Amino acid sequence: MTEPSRNVELKAHDPDPARTLERALAAGARDEGLLRQRDTYFHVAAGRLKLREQEPGGATLIAYQRPDEAAERVSSYRLVEVPDAGALRDALAAANGVDVVVVKRRHLLMWETVRIHLDEVRGLGSFLELEAVAGPGSDLSREHAQVGHLREALEIRDEALREGSYADALRGTTDGPAGEPDPELVALAREAAGRAYAPYSNFPVGAAVRTTDGRRYSGANVENAAYPQGQCAEASAIGALVAGGGGEIAEVVVAAPSRELCTPCGGCRQRLREFTSDEAPIHLVDLERVRRTTSLGELLPLSFGPEHLAA
Ligand code: THU
Repeated sequence: MTEPSRNVELKAHDPDPARTLERALAAGARDEGLLRQRDTYFHVAAGRLKLREQEPGGATLIAYQRPDEAAERVSSYRLVEVPDAGALRDALAAANGVDVVVVKRRHLLMWETVRIHLDEVRGLGSFLELEAVAGPGSDLSREHAQVGHLREALEIRDEALREGSYADALRGTTDGPAGEPDPELVALAREAAGRAYAPYSNFPVGAAVRTTDGRRYSGANVENAAYPQGQCAEASAIGALVAGGGGEIAEVVVAAPSRELCTPCGGCRQRLREFTSDEAPIHLVDLERVRRTTSLGELLPLSFGPEHLAA
């Protein structure tokens, strides 16, 4: 098997692309012009697979390994020129299924062997990418140094760095099954988090559930001075659901303005188990974005439920 190509890459949100362009040119980058790209991501067994259709230019099939969860990361990839993009897209869509489509306008610049991408991504906004293409057998020290140099020259701040791919951001998850969350349910969970009573932990959480017949209920965590008697947001939302008539939960959102992902505690996984199927999406969000979409099947495998009580 041929060796994949490698690069050292970095992605950041770019609040001011015009300024970044000026800085890149001042740093000595060459302007390579504007490109329109449409990337179709397919479901695959390993790594990632996308068909890139580009104007001007042609189509390329790109297979790559999901890089580390770090801002500056090493990616290995294989590029295959595609003469008939439409036929390949249809074949892969039929065999594997389309995961997500990313459409963007890319302003390409080159500095030494580094590609600088000023990307306007439909539905996401403006981003800046650096890709230092590695020479064969490189120990990558040169490529890391190039990226470090450009990070300074373009004044890319730590807060602007982004870890996932555009596909992840559009899909709204970093790992789990695809599927857009119900925006109203997300808003309800965030509002509930804003009203949480959590003076002891200072960890406000909101949860919202939507039933299969379309009703929505929310709740917040409620603590008290006897710490172990506190109640989780999910339990509160389930209480509201039962008081509102009960039913089966089709979708769950848990919202917490926390740095780390807030996943339902063990007890709440069991509470959800009573009303939720293994497949129903459970979206874990903060105040800005969906951090991860998971399911009860993933959170509570081999679970015990009401049907196990049947005599
Ligand atoms: N908490 C929730 O309400 N839901 C979760 O999914 C995790 C934790 C609450 C319980 C407690 O009030 C606070 O967060 C800190 O543990």
